[in-house]
Amino acid sequence: MNSLADPNVVKVLDRLHREAEAQTPELRKRMAATREGGQMTEDWPEQMRDFYLPVSREQGRFLYQTVRAVRAERVVEFGTSFGVSSIYLTAGLRDNGGGILVGSELVEDKAVTARQNLAAAGLAEYTEIRSGDARETLADPGGLVDVVLLDGGPGMYLEIVELLVPHLRDGAVVVADNIESGGEDEQPYAKWIRDPAHGFVSSSIVMKGGTEYSVWVSGTGVSGTKVSGTMQHSPLHAVVGDNRLDIARRLL
Ligand SMILES: C[S@@+](CC[C@H](N)C(=O)[O-])C[C@H]1O[C@@H](n2cnc3c(N)ncnc32)[C@H](O)[C@@H]1O
Repeated sequence: MNSLADPNVVKVLDRLHREAEAQTPELRKRMAATREGGQMTEDWPEQMRDFYLPVSREQGRFLYQTVRAVRAERVVEFGTSFGVSSIYLTAGLRDNGGGILVGSELVEDKAVTARQNLAAAGLAEYTEIRSGDARETLADPGGLVDVVLLDGGPGMYLEIVELLVPHLRDGAVVVADNIESGGEDEQPYAKWIRDPAHGFVSSSIVMKGGTEYSVWVSGTGVSGTKVSGTMQHSPLHAVVGDNRLDIARRLL
């Protein structure tokens, strides 16, 4: 099964990528106004409220592949915009047999349009797009997380990943966009995630503005096991619920 070949998904993705490409000349002009001394200005999301800023088709396919490869059931996305990456991620969830994408978008109008785009692609039932600041809306992702996409406010990747670490399943994948093109904003994140002391094994991939691919390898050993097509978690997990910190506390 490959939902990326589903006619509804193809149609919506074609339209969104086409509209995003048409914005490129205007985007180049406007980008300069969102940078100050190598860092993004505080109001950049508002300045970019009409712009897609989507993942590339190649990155999108890579996200789909990742969701399929790790048999993800819960995916978290920092920075949903109009929902391009969300469509690739939820297509993977549907083909895995179900699951949920917890998205986040600061600009309310963008979140509304993202929900409409996901509905048009026939993927609404696999999504929960949370409006507001991801530092608040992603504090509780609602269960163990299998895949994370970081594609939101530059300079916040580290804060968001630290927020999510207690919820990562053993072997969870964190994909971060714009690692090379994000300027000084992304450097603290890249430095942190590449330091093995922080529990990840990380590689940079040459894709669009530099994509960082990191796998969480410091779990408590409570990893999912496949049973009859659905991801079941260990009895220990069932006892303490979906919170890795709770599990860690019980093991200490
Ligand atoms: C690069 S775009 C995301 C593109 C999207 N992943 C896609 O492929 O279509 C970044 C988005 O993050 C949003 N954003 C910025 N800061 C945020 C925050 N603190 N919380 C939630 N969303 C934020 C911006 O409004 C913007 O729409």
